[in-house]
Amino acid sequence: MGRVFVAGSINMDVVATATRHPKVGETVAGLEVLYFPGGKGANQAVAASRLGARTTLIGRLGKDSFGAELRAFLAAQGIDLGSVRETAEAHSGTAIITVAAADNTIVVIPGGNALVSTDDVAAAPLAKGDVAVSQFEIPLPTIAAFFARARAAGATTLLNPAPAQAMSGELLALVDILVLNETELGFLAGTELSEADAAARIFDVALRLQAREDQTICVTLGKRGVLALAGREEISVAGRLVQAVDTTGAGDCFVGALAAQLADGVPLRSALAFANAAASISVQRMGAGPSMPTAAEVAAVLGAG
Ligand code: RIB
Repeated sequence: MGRVFVAGSINMDVVATATRHPKVGETVAGLEVLYFPGGKGANQAVAASRLGARTTLIGRLGKDSFGAELRAFLAAQGIDLGSVRETAEAHSGTAIITVAAADNTIVVIPGGNALVSTDDVAAAPLAKGDVAVSQFEIPLPTIAAFFARARAAGATTLLNPAPAQAMSGELLALVDILVLNETELGFLAGTELSEADAAARIFDVALRLQAREDQTICVTLGKRGVLALAGREEISVAGRLVQAVDTTGAGDCFVGALAAQLADGVPLRSALAFANAAASISVQRMGAGPSMPTAAEVAAVLGAG
């Protein structure tokens, strides 16, 4: 079984819940303020580890109380934190999140995440069969260096380009599996896509973005499930109808679960169905990191059909 290496962000999520989101310039009364471990990289590592993969996280924390709490939570999930450095130059990453009617808005202040460097990823002992995962909350040159090392070692690279930002053709060419939602796909492909677009159009845009013929592009569509273009093969996984309470981190759950399955040698189609089921569990719980399911919970959902 391969290992999962995640180079990515670690945040404390400061969450305000309310019955509705305020409009610009408006104040609404909230219900609760909650503190959850989050950050796309950390969430993906938590998902992979809870689902049974040997998982290493590479990142940065500040020397502050959020940093200490985040480290304790991540260590309790069984994640190898030997490559998570503490830095005096910045605070721990922090996300200010509003959750109302299961939808969220997020403002991320990167802090130490912006300092994750090419040196930080240089020592990762990547090997054939491993999966190297990253997202866009750490500097892009660091991701490129990480993926170049991973590919040279025979590992699979998995990128979640969120939050969306322009990326070079060189970085895209280093990606084996791209996991993104339809808005991010539209942004990277230079077109507009919405939830309502037909599968044929989404596959068409994915084909245009594909940097190599053997690249896989997975498009997560929330309730509508997942579409994946794997080389020239089109795969579709149906959505699961559940009562969502908080979708924060659902995409990260999908990414971490997919990485764990691929590191375990599971074929892509089954790995996608598993990751889709895992994400459907995470949206039924509040918070990002703590909402990630265990393998037994995902098996129960898959067994129930
Ligand atoms: O994807 C969800 C995550 O995005 C949150 O945990 C928040 O920290 C932001 O990074």
